[in-house]
Amino acid sequence: MAGDDFVGGSNNILETVKIARLYQDAGVHLLSVTGGWHETRVPQITMNVPEGAFAYLAREIKKAVDIPVAASNRIRHKAFAEQLLKEGWCDLVNLGRPLIADPHLPAKWSWNRENEVLLCTGCNQGCFDPLFTGEPSTCTVNPYAGRESEWMFTSAGKKKKVLIIGAGPAGMNAAITAAERGHDVVLFEKEDEPGGMLRYAGLPPGREDWMEYLDYMKRQLEKAPVDINFSAKISSKEVLSIKPDALVVATGGEPVIPEIPGVHLDHVVSAIDVLAGRIKPGKRVVIIGGGGTGVEAALALAARGTVDSKQFFFLWMWGAVTEDIAKRITLRGTHEVTILKRSPGMGRGLSRSTRWVMIHELRKRGVHMYDGVTFHSISEEGITCTVRGEEKFFPADTVVIAAGLRPRREIYDELKEQFKEIYLIGDAASPRRALQAINEGVEIGLKI
Ligand SMILES: Cc1cc2nc3c(=O)[nH]c(=O)nc-3n(C[C@H](O)[C@H](O)[C@H](O)COP(=O)(O)OP(=O)(O)OC[C@H]3O[C@@H](n4cnc5c(N)ncnc54)[C@H](O)[C@@H]3O)c2cc1C
Ligand SMILES: Cc1cc2nc3c(=O)[nH]c(=O)nc-3n(C[C@H](O)[C@H](O)[C@H](O)COP(=O)(O)O)c2cc1C
Ligand code: SF4
Repeated sequence: MAGDDFVGGSNNILETVKIARLYQDAGVHLLSVTGGWHETRVPQITMNVPEGAFAYLAREIKKAVDIPVAASNRIRHKAFAEQLLKEGWCDLVNLGRPLIADPHLPAKWSWNRENEVLLCTGCNQGCFDPLFTGEPSTCTVNPYAGRESEWMFTSAGKKKKVLIIGAGPAGMNAAITAAERGHDVVLFEKEDEPGGMLRYAGLPPGREDWMEYLDYMKRQLEKAPVDINFSAKISSKEVLSIKPDALVVATGGEPVIPEIPGVHLDHVVSAIDVLAGRIKPGKRVVIIGGGGTGVEAALALAARGTVDSKQFFFLWMWGAVTEDIAKRITLRGTHEVTILKRSPGMGRGLSRSTRWVMIHELRKRGVHMYDGVTFHSISEEGITCTVRGEEKFFPADTVVIAAGLRPRREIYDELKEQFKEIYLIGDAASPRRALQAINEGVEIGLKI
């Protein structure tokens, strides 16, 4: 049952406790209490929902009935689940997607091996989003899900020397899978750490679960028998000298710099540099590009300089802030952010069930968004463009470029005729999402 519909005029928790009692009187044996419904405008199962945000609904209903009550939604960690049970919030915890991401979670929890659990990120990209188009569900982080009878993990028949270029999600998954099957795997990564673009995906507020996935992958990589070389940018010539039996090119993508006069001015920077903290943006920031990265960068920038949940709770409990002031200090930070997008549709490319959440959050945080923009020029003062037929000027101290990626496939193109077994995977094949990169990494790791 929904503990609160979170729809104006519909049932809230004060009413659902009465419904819970009616269920009990009618002979129901157990109540599993979730949040609201698809109609609610309060996010229910997306990544930005804090762990156990709706457990209080189970707690209120448990107080009103004698039958067992389960708490639900975004319960992911053993310690947190145990705390709910110990403190009497509920009698059971209900895990949905965490069991899709890792069907062995219950065993790992009971063996105190929670560090080995592949955690659900709440991305919805593999499991929930396909439902909208009638496609079968799978899982971003566990691509075996839904393919259990097709994707068999078998040991490698003939041991091969496998060279993998790039330790983003595609390369890491290919390396671990191939090595665990018994191949002799060597991995080259030009940066001093693994993760590729996924290192930035977890930086905006509410997207932190990607960091947990990355930490898990780093632990797996350390455990797997992979010969890893960091700070090791490899060239086609060096690849040939190593003479691998199979070559996997997982080199990702390169940011596209749009051809706008003034794009090379000093205050024009890349979204990745901003997310990584390599650039200190000015007060007024205009982002060129409103796809996934543009939206994520806007979220991260708009949240900078806002009070955090602990500070807010303190101020709220002591009555230090009115509702207006509370909104101002939690939702307005140190930057004024505008997104300008060439094509229609803000946030295209984001997960279908997450896009509305992120766009609403941007609105709540006061980010201005315009699509259908034709760019004319960038000057020291800002951007001149036409927005739906009207010429406009947007003042900007910093201009952030988030105009997409082009595949980084030079090594593949140079070597494709020289190897019998060569694969191009992830964003290097075509810039998409981690879902595809992880999927292709595991698939190739199983195929070699
Ligand atoms: C801000 C942001 C948010 C995102 N959010 C999401 C999300 O919510 N969901 C989602 O599914 N996807 C998301 N993505 C996209 C996702 O991160 C990428 O699709 C994914 O990382 C692609 O994986 P990859 O392994 O193909 O390439 P990459 O992650 O780009 O990794 C390629 C690696 O190859 C290395 N490399 C390149 N050339 C060489 C060389 N010659 N020698 C050695 N190493 C080399 C690079 O240094 C890099 O580490 C996001 C991306 C960004 C930037
Ligand atoms: C693929 C998928 C389909 C779902 N379909 C429904 C649905 O039709 N109705 C509903 O009330 N909840 C639906 N849910 C929500 C689950 O029933 C459950 O409440 C939620 O996934 C629990 O949160 P957790 O996955 O974070 O553990 C669905 C969830 C997923 C992942
Ligand atoms: S696709 Fe994403 S949300 Fe769904 S189970 Fe996998 S990690 Fe969790």
